Amino acid sequence: MSNNKELNTRKLTAFSMKVLGDMGGTFIGMMCYIGDRMGLFKTLSTDGPGTSREIASRLGINERYTREWLSSLTSAKYLEYDPSTKKFTLPPEHAELLAQEYGVCGGYQQVSAFWDVMDKVLDSFKNGGGVSSSSYNDDFWKGLERFTGSMFEDLLINQWLPLLPEIREDLNRGIKVADVGCGSGKAIVKLASEFPNSIFTGYDILEPNISTALSKAYKAGVSSNTNFKQIDATKGIPEKYDLITVFDVIHDMANPKGGLIAIKDALKPKGVFLLLDMKCSDKLEENITPIAPIMYGISVMYCMTQSLSQGGEGLGSMGLPPSKVRELCKEIGFSEVKEIPIKSPFNILYSIKP
Ligand SMILES: C[S@@+](CC[C@H](N)C(=O)[O-])C[C@H]1O[C@@H](n2cnc3c(N)ncnc32)[C@H](O)[C@@H]1O
Repeated sequence: MSNNKELNTRKLTAFSMKVLGDMGGTFIGMMCYIGDRMGLFKTLSTDGPGTSREIASRLGINERYTREWLSSLTSAKYLEYDPSTKKFTLPPEHAELLAQEYGVCGGYQQVSAFWDVMDKVLDSFKNGGGVSSSSYNDDFWKGLERFTGSMFEDLLINQWLPLLPEIREDLNRGIKVADVGCGSGKAIVKLASEFPNSIFTGYDILEPNISTALSKAYKAGVSSNTNFKQIDATKGIPEKYDLITVFDVIHDMANPKGGLIAIKDALKPKGVFLLLDMKCSDKLEENITPIAPIMYGISVMYCMTQSLSQGGEGLGSMGLPPSKVRELCKEIGFSEVKEIPIKSPFNILYSIKP
């Protein structure tokens, strides 16, 4: 390092500490994945504090591994440790994030699936192209459902629809709704349970997602007002709808403009298009936020690469900022684009009229 003298040591120390913290985050993520899979967070939350022996015995798992895991997350300040009793505690505020079915552990489940496709992503860096969405294992799809699930379990019904009273009234009265890029059908199953007078159709390009959605709808007892079909929505959507919802899909599409045109064509004249996409800016310098590294990471590992694998535009997770939504909607001829004032660090919700 011949030019060491030119380095600002304070800056170097500060950055070293940041890199070490971020590297620690990688390992904390692995420990969270294990804690989720082994039921460690759940027992700490439900059955309370315990020693490593007590916790291992509750779950019927190995004590030595359990003790190392508990020590790791104690050092990361995720757990608290009382040396006098040798008991470990998951504070209730931490359990809110870590011991839930939906939320951050779903994100870590997705990350584990990203390692599985790493060689394919590296190959695409060298040779172009991308990784097709059918290459991702079950952890990706289950993790996605769990990471975004709280949106549909809670926010959509309890926080977002109250901001859209006319749509909520229509749903209560009974309308025809399509969810484009429905994934495993979480949003539709929730909406169909909440609004039994309305009829819901979920569309997705991947057949395994359609099978999962059908069985989820059956288990939830909403088969009579739901329906799921495999289509590439960019090539046209069969039937006309009063409401079309699209949650985190357009930026993934190989042909986002084609998808938006198909949605406009499938709306009844007084229909509404509810679009949820990422909260981001068209200026990289405005995307220096705590959330953006997560979104750009997901983009490289899934959103952009699966679009490029189809010869698509590869907009990526951060590729559909409000300016781009407005530009595309104007080109296509939508008459109104309104941002709904939801509170979310991740997303913007738009209400769009044909
Ligand atoms: C990020 S996931 C979002 C899934 C779901 N809306 C959610 O929020 O959990 C994107 C979904 O869009 C689907 N998709 C992507 N391109 C599509 C297309 N052209 N037509 C239909 N579905 C598509 C994918 O298969 C995937 O299920």
